[in-house]
Amino acid sequence: MHYSNLILPAICIIFTLTTSSVAQTAVSAAKPFITAADSKFGGQIEGTAVDQAGNVFTVDFGKKTQAIGQLSPKQKLFFAEANNQTFFNAVRFVPVPSGKNIKSAALAGDVLGHRVLKLVVKVDKKTKKTKVSSSVFCENKQFLQPNDLAIAVKSGFVYLSGQNFTADTKIGDGDLWLCTSKGKTTRLGQFGRTNGIEVSPDERTLYLSEAFNVNGTVISNKVLKFDINSATGHVSNKQVFADFEKIDGTQATDIDGMRTDKDGNLFVTRNGGGQVVKFSPTGEVLLKIKLANKSVSNLEFGGKDGKTLFMVGTCDADATKGCVDTFNNPVEGRAFASLNKQL
Ligand SMILES: *[C@@H]1O[C@H](CO)[C@@H](O)[C@H](O)[C@H]1NC(C)=O
Ligand SMILES: *[C@@H]1O[C@H](CO)[C@@H](O)[C@H](O)[C@H]1NC(C)=O
Ligand SMILES: *[C@@H]1O[C@H](CO)[C@@H](O)[C@H](O)[C@H]1NC(C)=O
Ligand SMILES: *[C@@H]1O[C@H](CO)[C@@H](O)[C@H](O)[C@H]1NC(C)=O
Repeated sequence: MHYSNLILPAICIIFTLTTSSVAQTAVSAAKPFITAADSKFGGQIEGTAVDQAGNVFTVDFGKKTQAIGQLSPKQKLFFAEANNQTFFNAVRFVPVPSGKNIKSAALAGDVLGHRVLKLVVKVDKKTKKTKVSSSVFCENKQFLQPNDLAIAVKSGFVYLSGQNFTADTKIGDGDLWLCTSKGKTTRLGQFGRTNGIEVSPDERTLYLSEAFNVNGTVISNKVLKFDINSATGHVSNKQVFADFEKIDGTQATDIDGMRTDKDGNLFVTRNGGGQVVKFSPTGEVLLKIKLANKSVSNLEFGGKDGKTLFMVGTCDADATKGCVDTFNNPVEGRAFASLNKQL
């Protein structure tokens, strides 16, 4: 055998070892957008959503969990239920329904009411004032919560996650529900505690987080993925998309809200770990976005171009306040792109 035939494979092996041992996940820092000093939101800040124009909304406005506020471009009240037994934790905008003077519409998940409300925003032609009306979109006392919701915009299927946080998680402490556009509810599955939920831009894949506690300690955090049947909305072919025990040993840090961008990358919050992890559609970790604060409960892309990722969480400095960080992504979020018919 000629020397060069020996040397080349050897060089290849060294190259492979070297690149894998120095290969590090890219890390970016988030930028503070709303801090404890100027926040109008409470510590239960959650349920982040974007409308077609890129305005961003989130819950716990004025420290009231029955109130949803706009956080960008400026902080103001969007909608509040009079009943303080309403606890909004999830919000998503839907395509603007046809009808007179309708500006936008959203779905809002109510944890305590075990229901999803439809909010319709109308503009008074003369005064230009907006008025939000609410009605029940779907409800079922068997919903564990809902905790978060995801919408397959084209089919109108709405997916709900929920969790019962117990010291020892068992199957059934998490659930996945489907609401059709007509309000029919179907339980699609029971799991360990489920929380973050999202649909891929082609609406063929559903992502769902699942976590387990043992004796009061969190021991597992995974992202599951399923195939969506576009005719029925039902899911099949459950697979593990990401397992934080294998990725970086952070399985004790909870996954909270999840969102996809237009390219199908999945952004996963690590609540308590001050981090959002960006995955490629094939499950490769592309980037870790570091926040200055530990808590990050939810997130959504917004702004005029739909490319700014807004990440919300309880402020470190004052747990009664909600903080917001931003990060600039190269492409639009799925929700924004979908509402603007880019998908
Ligand atoms: C994160 O926490 C630090 C220290 O409490 C604070 O100075 C910073 O502004 C926080 N980030 C946000 C978005 O408020
Ligand atoms: C909720 O509203 C009821 C009736 O208005 C009031 O008595 C109660 O104190 C309120 N609870 C909270 C937590 O605000
Ligand atoms: C939550 O879990 C506790 C403890 O296992 C149980 O007693 C309770 O019924 C569960 N709640 C629901 C809504 O399933
Ligand atoms: C469960 O946790 C308690 C206190 O946190 C501890 O005393 C006990 O030994 C634990 N039990 C097991 C089986 O690990």
